[in-house]
Amino acid sequence: VDARTTRQTSDNSPLQIFVKAKKKINDIFVEIEDYVKDAVEYMHEVEKLPEIVNKEKVKKTEEFVSKVHGIRDVLSRDHMKVAFFGRTSNGKSSVINAMLRDKILPSGIGHTTNCFLQVEGSPSDEPYLVLEGATEHCPVESVGQLAHALCKEKLSESQMVRVYWPRNRCLLLRDDVVFVDSPGVDVTPNLDEWIDKHCLDADVFVLVANAESTLMVTEKNFFHKVSTRLSKPNIFILNNRWDASATEPEFLDQVRRQHQERAVDFLVKELKVCTPKEADERIFFISAKEVLQARLAEQGQTASTPLTEGFQTRYFEFQDFERKFEECISKSAVKTKFDQHSQRGKYIANELREVLDDIYNDAQKIKEDKLIRRKEVHDKINYTEQQLIIVTQEMKQKIHQMVEDVEQRVSKALNE
Ligand code: GTP
Ligand code: MG
Repeated sequence: VDARTTRQTSDNSPLQIFVKAKKKINDIFVEIEDYVKDAVEYMHEVEKLPEIVNKEKVKKTEEFVSKVHGIRDVLSRDHMKVAFFGRTSNGKSSVINAMLRDKILPSGIGHTTNCFLQVEGSPSDEPYLVLEGATEHCPVESVGQLAHALCKEKLSESQMVRVYWPRNRCLLLRDDVVFVDSPGVDVTPNLDEWIDKHCLDADVFVLVANAESTLMVTEKNFFHKVSTRLSKPNIFILNNRWDASATEPEFLDQVRRQHQERAVDFLVKELKVCTPKEADERIFFISAKEVLQARLAEQGQTASTPLTEGFQTRYFEFQDFERKFEECISKSAVKTKFDQHSQRGKYIANELREVLDDIYNDAQKIKEDKLIRRKEVHDKINYTEQQLIIVTQEMKQKIHQMVEDVEQRVSKALNE
């Protein structure tokens, strides 16, 4: 049934684009950090020569260490974020559960999502949640507990509850995908606040629509607002509850074509976020409920349920969505998150090189000055030596003459 089970164990998921890029860029920053630390150490050694290394340069280099450290810190927290929106009861929470292959989020009657819920991977083995503005970890083991914990708190719909789920229970969470579930877009007047608080750093948006009805004005409005705040957001449209079409197979193709056309028009002509060809890769007809049921049964968590006509096709379409989604989110996240880091990394490397070049040039200049001075001294000594030679020669001659002169005079006097 599930071609992805093979992917559960192998690592050919497109998410690896992000995972590998993250590892690579982190390795590069580890190296940069080493270089900068080496440079600081070296500067402390030569600091005794203030004419080469001044305090300002040392300080600047020391600051690079904390800057690089800061980047590595942000990098370690970088993830791929997907946010789900749509009208109440369209199946947003169900889609997330189907992708996570587990009933993590409460869904269905009595479990209307009433605040933002972010699901992310946690290294610990026990799931827990953290309320907005709090640091306390509230343990949760089951959906029931999670729902209870959420009901107990008086939460406003813009608030965010973070659910930390063990990474080892789900590949998507292990690979740093973060899921954001939202209350229905039809229940709030605060769409702007939602966008400001929860959407600006999302890499992908998923509009969970109801295949039994048509795209609603409230749903469209929300995405119009999103696309004025973000340039060309990545939007997928899931026509959920497509299993309902099985009851009316004679209209299936016609209904599908109509939904498809309207969805393409919405993405291409209204929002202008993609081309018609791209839009075809962004619109899917699925049943989240069926996929979740099938996956739970496959893992032996529940008994298998009778399959509705056309299940296999819908299941494949869901897998197709997942693959396109993984491709889109990993590429987008690499661009938006790591591009900034590599710009800053390049800037630091250049600045550091300038500082070191300065030091090298100053040292070189001092060396040359010394050489020139030595040559000057040398020249002076030579000159003096020559002068001395000349002087001594002259003296010798003079003395010689004097002696001769005296000798002559003496012999003359003797003769006389
Ligand atoms: P709110 O949080 O209230 O906004 O709803 P939601 O969008 O999160 O929907 P939820 O996942 O809670 O699903 C609502 C109901 O629809 C649940 O009873 C689901 O079981 C059901 N449902 C979800 N997906 C499908 C589907 O593909 N087919 C059918 N038949 N039912 C579905
Ligand atoms: Mg919900």
